Order: sequence, then C-alpha cells, then structure tokens
Amino acid sequence: MRKPIIAGNWKMYKSLGDAVETVLALKPLVANANHCEVVIAPVFTAIKTVADRLEGSNIHIAGQDCSTEVEEGAHTGEVAAFMLKDVGAKYVIIGHSERRQFYAETDSMVSRKTQAAIKSGLSVIMCVGESLAQREQGIAENVVSGQLGGGLNGLTASDLDRIIVAYEPVWAIGTGRTATPEQAQEMHAFIRRVFAERHSSGAAEKLRILYGGSVKPDNIAGLMSQGDIDGALVGGASLKADSFAQIVNYRS
Ligand code: PGA
Repeated sequence: MRKPIIAGNWKMYKSLGDAVETVLALKPLVANANHCEVVIAPVFTAIKTVADRLEGSNIHIAGQDCSTEVEEGAHTGEVAAFMLKDVGAKYVIIGHSERRQFYAETDSMVSRKTQAAIKSGLSVIMCVGESLAQREQGIAENVVSGQLGGGLNGLTASDLDRIIVAYEPVWAIGTGRTATPEQAQEMHAFIRRVFAERHSSGAAEKLRILYGGSVKPDNIAGLMSQGDIDGALVGGASLKADSFAQIVNYRS
C-alpha cells in the first residue's frame, strides 16, 4: 500500500509571522490524519522556526528547491540540501515548473539537485508536467517521459525509495483549471509504466505519484479516487489552514 502524501507548496508567500500563524492553525485540524503524510513547504527563511513549532506533530517540512552542490562552498545565494535537513526538512521539491519556466532550470540541473538531496538524506518531490501548447500538440507524454528520464538519471535502485513524482500540468497550475481525474489518472499510469520500464515493476509499484494543479477541497476526493493518484501537491489552496486541512481530510 502506498501511503498518500498531501503537500502544500507555499511558494514565495508568507512572512515568518504569517507562516507560524498558519501552521499553528493547521496543526489541530490535521492531527488525526493518519491516512496520509502531511507536508508543507515554506520559504527557506521560515523553515527552522516552522519546524520547531511543529515538533512532535504529524506535519513534515519540505524545502522548495536546493542547490546542485552537495558540499558547502562559494556558491552565493544557494542553499544546500544538507542545510535544509539540518533545520528540519524531510523533503525537497525539485524541478517545479515555475523554476523550469522562470529560472531556466534544466533536466540536468534537476538530476544534480536530486542526487544532492538524496546524498544529504532528503526525499525528493520531483515535478514534471507539460505546457498547454505541448498537450495540444499531442506530445505531453514525450515531454513528461523526457523530464523523468533526465531527472532520474544516475540514481541507484536504493535511491528510488526517496523519490516521489509530482505530475503538474503547467496549464493547471494557478489557473483554476484542473485536469479531470481521468486525465490525471491517464498520465499517472503512464508515469508508473515509464518508471517500471526504466527501473523495475517493484519500484514502480512503490512509487508515489502526486497530482498538482488547482487542487481544491472540492476536487481532491475525485482525484484521490483514481488508482494511480497517491496524493497532491497543493499551491494556492494550501495557503489557508482551513482549506488545506479540508484537502488533507478528504476522506472524512
Ligand atoms: P496551484 O499550484 O495549486 O495553485 O495550482 C500547484 C503548484 O504549483 O504546486
């Protein structure tokens, strides 16, 4: 059985005070959520404080990115994966479409960051997804399998336990336009097949594949009813404790 993950990606939102206020409100609302792992990804500067305030709770922390470099060194502006771990992160999101689109992140950078994160003891939420133009051209699967192949390059079989894939069609992120549960399921099943061919059917069976793109309290249950959807990466609707808690508690 794959334990679902519901992760909130806070992007570049919230001062430290707002982040603390939100997690303190969230904590009791998700305290009984044993059916899934709950994760939030605050900005770097809030991670330590938020992690301290969440100690002993069932909410885990993710970074939103990390350096390609494993070791500390002269890399101005970068944050190493081990530094995220050091301040309480368990996960890191890598290759989010906003990083690919606006910060020129390539598959080879995604691969280096992923390897750095795994070496540092973090688990990786690796994002993949096609643009609207790519979907309309009928090349969505090629794009996604290319991103997967590039990002997973160089990993060993034991590293795969630390990989979670998030399928986030770019046309659904922040647009209010969600993929239908069937559209998402189709791509998730495809991702699992690619993973099985590339690695092994055992690894593919264990792989958790999250859906992201305008996930809301009113569409989460439909998405989660699909066999290959193992959770969600939630942007806008994770910013408020009550809407994120409703998504986490989609079964009740
Ligand atoms: P959204 O963002 O839920 O606001 O569409 C999802 C994401 O970017 O991870």
